Formats: sequence, C-alpha cells, structure tokens
Amino acid sequence: MKEGPPSFENDVRSLFREKDRSLMQWAFDLWAHADVRDNAPQILQRLEDGDMPCDEPWPKDRIEAFRSWMRAGMQP
Ligand code: HEM
Repeated sequence: MKEGPPSFENDVRSLFREKDRSLMQWAFDLWAHADVRDNAPQILQRLEDGDMPCDEPWPKDRIEAFRSWMRAGMQP
C-alpha cells in the first residue's frame, strides 16, 4: 500500500504516452509537472469528453487516477 497522496512522478506522468507528449508539445509538456498542473482542468475536461487523446480515449479508471491526483493538490 503506497503511503501519502498521489504524485505526478509516481502516478501521473506514466499515464501519458510518448506519442501524447510529442504530439501535444506545441501546447504544453505532458511529462512536466508544472505544465500539467497549470493546464489540469482543461486536460481533465478533454479526457472526460473522450476527445483527447483522439486516437485512444482513456478508460474510466485512468481518468479517475488523474482526478484523484488533482484532488490531492497536484503533488509533484
Ligand atoms: C487542454 C487540453 C488539450 C487540447 C486543447 C488539445 C488539443 C489538440 C489539438 C488541437 C490537436 C491537433 C489536432 C487534432 O488532432 O485535433 C491535438 C492532437 C493530439 N492530442 Fe491533444 N489536446 C489536449 C490534451 C491532450 C491530452 C491530455 C492528450 C493525451 C492524453 C492529447 C493527445 C493528443 C494526441 C495523441 C494528438 C494527435 C492526434 C493525431 O493526430 O493522431 N491531447 N490535441
């Protein structure tokens, strides 16, 4: 059982594929804590709408992992 709140390093970065990172680099870096933190509400909205990533929408449990990181204060 992992201690403490979810962190970007342990629980979020690996949710984003290399492809996601490279194809979204024009807007923000999906492997950078500060970028994802600063764009989290819009990112969550696109994930929930299922239109990003446009080739492979996330399953519910992966969206929930992202949401719980947000709720826990978006730790690095
Ligand atoms: C604020 C959130 C986001 C915005 C405004 C956004 C917007 C866009 C736009 C305008 C494109 C290029 C054109 C298109 O294919 O529609 C694109 C492509 C893409 N985005 Fe996002 N995106 C967001 C979040 C994300 C996230 C969170 C992921 C991955 C988890 C993602 C993965 C991708 C991928 C893989 C492509 C390339 C699609 C392809 O050409 O196959 N995007 N995004």
